[in-house]
Amino acid sequence: MVYVAVMGYGTIGSGVAEILDQNRAQIAAGAGEEVALKYVLDLREFPDSPVADKVIHDFNILLEDPEVTVVVETMGGLNPAYPFAKACLEAGKHVVTSNKALVAAHGTELLKIARERGVNFFFEASVGGGIPIIRPLYRCLKGEQIQEITGILNGTTNYILTKMDKEGASFEGALKEAQDLGYAERNPEADVEGYDTCRKIAILTAMATGKEVNYEHIYTEGITRITDVDFRYAEKMGTSVKLFGSSRMSGDQVHAWVAPVMIGRSHPLYAVSDVFNGILVKGNMLGTSMFYGSGAGKLPTASAVVADVIEAVQNAGQNVPLGWTGQKLEIADMETSAHRYFVRVAGKAADRMAAVERVFGEVETIELDGMDEFAVLTEKLSEADFKEKAVCLDADCQAGILQMIRAEL
Ligand code: HSE
Repeated sequence: MVYVAVMGYGTIGSGVAEILDQNRAQIAAGAGEEVALKYVLDLREFPDSPVADKVIHDFNILLEDPEVTVVVETMGGLNPAYPFAKACLEAGKHVVTSNKALVAAHGTELLKIARERGVNFFFEASVGGGIPIIRPLYRCLKGEQIQEITGILNGTTNYILTKMDKEGASFEGALKEAQDLGYAERNPEADVEGYDTCRKIAILTAMATGKEVNYEHIYTEGITRITDVDFRYAEKMGTSVKLFGSSRMSGDQVHAWVAPVMIGRSHPLYAVSDVFNGILVKGNMLGTSMFYGSGAGKLPTASAVVADVIEAVQNAGQNVPLGWTGQKLEIADMETSAHRYFVRVAGKAADRMAAVERVFGEVETIELDGMDEFAVLTEKLSEADFKEKAVCLDADCQAGILQMIRAEL
């Protein structure tokens, strides 16, 4: 019998308890022995829940119990998740987490401790919820040179952008609906400003390169300045706008960024809608592979946690190398990354196109009826070049830029 403790009986933690109970036979068959929940660490009591008799409030009880060999961290945040996870690893227990903030901030250190103690720190559920992506990177794609990972990694923003796209909703209206449905938090900043996606692409980049990534070095732009007018243009162009977390490796250079991107119907991520996530991985031998599914939610995320518990039990007494070392990755300056740009310009195209073409060269023009503005789609330019040209268009040519969205068309 293997005994597990769950720290944090919120949405994911209660899902883990439910799956450990409901899929007991399946889990035992996978793990090679019975896996039982022994403790649930939480500040609260849960008198009417199936784990009522397992609730503890003192972390030291599970830390000092030699029977507990696997600890699940589903508290979220860094404090006390970080000191608790670290103490468990140092005590020779496996730690499984769904906490992307913990992995992005302290992954390198926690993986090092796990290696030194001959245990494991697993975090499949920290990116893409129930979608298998971490394990494919360190197992199935082990022989690949990863050239790109691009994903829709946040279900809340994808839901909001889908509402704006399919129903013409405003950002504020779609956000309110996402909050009413429980997808978005009352304080939605982490999702809508792209911070959640930033931590997830940092983790994927570390897994792909084997190096530590400082997520604060990843250029991060959220969706708060995307408007219903942008989607009116997108509709006319047969495109959509999605929030991408992307990392692209070329030689020694790695660009990693989070930003809304305009994509066409032929893009594999175009059809990833509502709260779903999708992740493209390009390998030098594999070509492109796509992972799709539920990127959040109680049972899908808890399912990924439970799979990690099984992996930990299967590897009792040995550390599984995930390939993420302490070597630091230098993220290339965003100014050197190149994109096409969808640009909305104030005024009538007839009056302003000459100035726009003087600055950007040949562009595609898109006009909407009854608008005192128009849009253009530029050729591929570096961010630095784009900024220089935008300043020129704004200042010298008196043609104000109303919006810029990177485009992959
Ligand atoms: N807030 C996240 C999302 C939860 O919307 O995708 C899963 O990490």
